[in-house]
Amino acid sequence: MGDPLRIGVVGCGVISSTYLETAGRVPDLEVVAVADADPARARRAAETHGVRAASLDDLWADDEIEWVLDLTTPGAHAEVALTALENGFSVYNEKPLCATTAEARQVLEAAAEAGLAVGSAPDTVLGTGIQTARAAVEAGAIGRPVSATATMACAGHELWHPQPDFYYAPGGGPLFDMGPYYLTALVHLLGPVESVQAVARRPREVRTIASGPRAGEQVPVAVATHVTALAEHASGAVSTLVMSFDAPATRAMPIEVHGDEGSMVVPDPNTFDGAAEVRGTSGDWARLPDGAGYRGAARGFGLVDVSRSADRRTGRASAEVALHVLDVMESVIRAADEQRRVPVSSTCVVPPLVPLTG
Ligand SMILES: NC(=O)c1ccc[n+]([C@@H]2O[C@H](COP(=O)([O-])OP(=O)(O)OC[C@H]3O[C@@H](n4cnc5c(N)ncnc54)[C@H](O)[C@@H]3O)[C@@H](O)[C@H]2O)c1
Repeated sequence: MGDPLRIGVVGCGVISSTYLETAGRVPDLEVVAVADADPARARRAAETHGVRAASLDDLWADDEIEWVLDLTTPGAHAEVALTALENGFSVYNEKPLCATTAEARQVLEAAAEAGLAVGSAPDTVLGTGIQTARAAVEAGAIGRPVSATATMACAGHELWHPQPDFYYAPGGGPLFDMGPYYLTALVHLLGPVESVQAVARRPREVRTIASGPRAGEQVPVAVATHVTALAEHASGAVSTLVMSFDAPATRAMPIEVHGDEGSMVVPDPNTFDGAAEVRGTSGDWARLPDGAGYRGAARGFGLVDVSRSADRRTGRASAEVALHVLDVMESVIRAADEQRRVPVSSTCVVPPLVPLTG
C-alpha cells in the first residue's frame, strides 16, 4: 500500500460519521480537515472523530488535501464540487452526483479541463454483495439475463432524519435519493440503460418531521414520492423499478435478476454485503459464497479504491456511471411528466470487477 489518500471533508451532517468511522479504521485514507457551512457541526464532527475542523476558506486553501469528499446535500453538490476543482482538488460526491445532469456535466467538464478526477457514491456496489452477484451473472449463473425488478418502498425519511427538507426538494424524492443504489447496481449487473418509461405520483403536499428539534414541523413536497419505471438496457434486458416514500412496509426483494436459465436474488444495494441466492428452473435456492468485492467495506470505500489505484485518481465508484444513473433518473421523471418513452442519451463503461479483497 502507498501513502494514504489525503482527504478534506465538506459537509458534517448525518452521514459524515459513517465516512469518518471508515477513514478512522482503514490505512488507505487520512482526513486532513473537516468543514461545514455551519462551523459548529464541523467542530462536533472533529471532536467525535479526532480530526481537525477548519473553516471552508482554510480547507479550500489547504495544499495537504488531495481529494475533497463532498457530503453536503444534493442541491449543493455542484457548487462544492466546482469549488473543489477550482482549488485544485479532485472531488468525490455523495449521491446523487449533482441535482441535475446539466450540473453534473459541468462538473465533469471542469474536472477534465483541470486535469482532475471526480468520483461519486454509491460505493455500496463495490462490496461483496453486488460484486459477487455481478461476477455470477457474468459467469452465466442465470444464463442470458432477461429482466430485473428493483423495489425500494418505505414510509419516508422524515420519520428518522432530523432535517429531511432535502429529501422532498429537487434532487431528492425516493428516485433521486435511493434510486442511485438500485440503478447503479442494475447498471453493474446488466449494463447501461437506453430508454425509460414511467409513472410518478406525489400523493401528499407536505410531510411531518418526526424526530429531532424540529419534530412536528411540516416540510413541503416538491418532488414525486412514488415512482414506477421501466428501463430498457442496451443489452436487451428490461428492469422494473419501484421507488416509493409512500409505502409503510414491503417484503419485496430489493433486486431480482432473471435469466433464461435461472433467477437471482441480489442483496440490498444500500448495503455492502449480504449473500446473493441463485435458483435454476428447478431445485432449491443456493446462497453464493463471496466471489468478488471488498470484504468489510463501508461508505468511503470508493475512495479506498481510488487510493489503491495506480494513479490515485481512477476509482470504480465512477462519476461516468453516476452521471449515467442521474441521466436515467431525470429521464424517468421526464417520461412520467410527458407520458412517453424517453431515450437516455448518456451511456457508461461499467468499471472492472473488484477481486475478492480483504
Ligand atoms: N443521511 C443518510 O443516511 C445518508 C445516507 C447515504 C447518503 N446520504 C447522502 O449524503 C448527503 C448528505 O446527507 P446528510 O443526511 O448527511 O445531510 P445533512 O443535512 O445531515 O448534512 C449536510 C451538511 O452539509 C452542510 N452543507 C450544506 N451545504 C453546504 C455548503 N455549500 N458548503 C458546506 N457545507 C454545506 C450542512 O450544513 C450540513 O451540515 C446527501 O447527498 C445524501 O443523499 C445520506
